[in-house]
Amino acid sequence: MPSTRVLPIDPVHPDRDALREAAAILRAGGLVAFPTETVYGLGANALDEDAVRRVFEAKGRPPVNPLIVHVTGETMVRGLVTDWSAEARTLAGRYWPGPLTLVLPKGSAVADVVTAGGSTVAVRAPGHPVALGLIREVGVPLAAPSANRSGQLSPTRAEHVLAGLDGRIDLILDGGPTPNGIESTVLDLTTTRPTLLRPGPIGISDLEATVGPIERRLGISPGPLPSPGLLLRHYAPRTPVELHLRDALDARIADLEGNKENFGVVFLGTRSEEKRIGLPLDPEAYATRLYDVLHHLDSLDLSRILVELPPDTDPWMAIRDRLIRAATR
Ligand code: TXA
Ligand code: MG
Repeated sequence: MPSTRVLPIDPVHPDRDALREAAAILRAGGLVAFPTETVYGLGANALDEDAVRRVFEAKGRPPVNPLIVHVTGETMVRGLVTDWSAEARTLAGRYWPGPLTLVLPKGSAVADVVTAGGSTVAVRAPGHPVALGLIREVGVPLAAPSANRSGQLSPTRAEHVLAGLDGRIDLILDGGPTPNGIESTVLDLTTTRPTLLRPGPIGISDLEATVGPIERRLGISPGPLPSPGLLLRHYAPRTPVELHLRDALDARIADLEGNKENFGVVFLGTRSEEKRIGLPLDPEAYATRLYDVLHHLDSLDLSRILVELPPDTDPWMAIRDRLIRAATR
């Protein structure tokens, strides 16, 4: 494929012509990266098996890892699942469009390639005007993983998408940086109790306030993986990442300086230099910038990136999850 085209688009009032152009590519079975409120997604017509297969190829994604199907909302989702429970309705009513992915029993309209052969399908209505406008314009659900090569960091800017997928996809809609900055919360509703498969922008305490107790199934668990995204070593920069608590971080910095190593640091604080970057103490503001900072440091050919581990509390759960995965080799 020749090099990938980048089309700027207003993130608040997306230009209809740009959406039409992207929709035409998707209808023809092509691949379009677009901004969502979490990270950039790599979209294909979810009802076109060949197009979906191209998504796996472009990313180098193992065929055992299923894709999230993006919809405009409840009306579109009903054709894709066999059970739209009261719980699903409540959650969608409250958090859609938004960064909550629901895992539900798959209907026959969804091809096996989308769900990696599984009997469940992950669905979400994205809360970004470009993503939502694009799905409306095409009129079909879009299968869209994060728009990065498999195993690498998710993109929060069009530049990140281009760096990973140039020449492998048809178009990138460039709507600027994505607001949430980390991937959606994934909640499985096919289990006896709802099960959190991936923490994200919508916190577990908010979800529990809506649907009652939630099972946590995070990190490596014995037995078959309930969600391939639970594989560790995911969301990782190429540069090795080390996590440290504050005191240990200072000692480690002194140590590496003594060795004249060329390393990077991400800490909780306000001052920043090119290789030592302070991120806000507020988890939402931190999440917005995290991947951009890691992409930046990853481009500097450093020996390693030291990261100060944020507190072990619920509001930091999603960020700690991504950092631990990034640090796992
Ligand atoms: O915020 C997001 O969710 C972004 C934007 C583009 O929507 N998408 C995203 O997709 O992060 P991806 O493919 O990078 O991650 C989807 C996660 C993976 O961990 C995958 O294993 C899991 O969702 N998943 C997808 N379908 C599933 C299913 N049927 N059952 C369990 N887990 C599923
Ligand atoms: Mg991903």
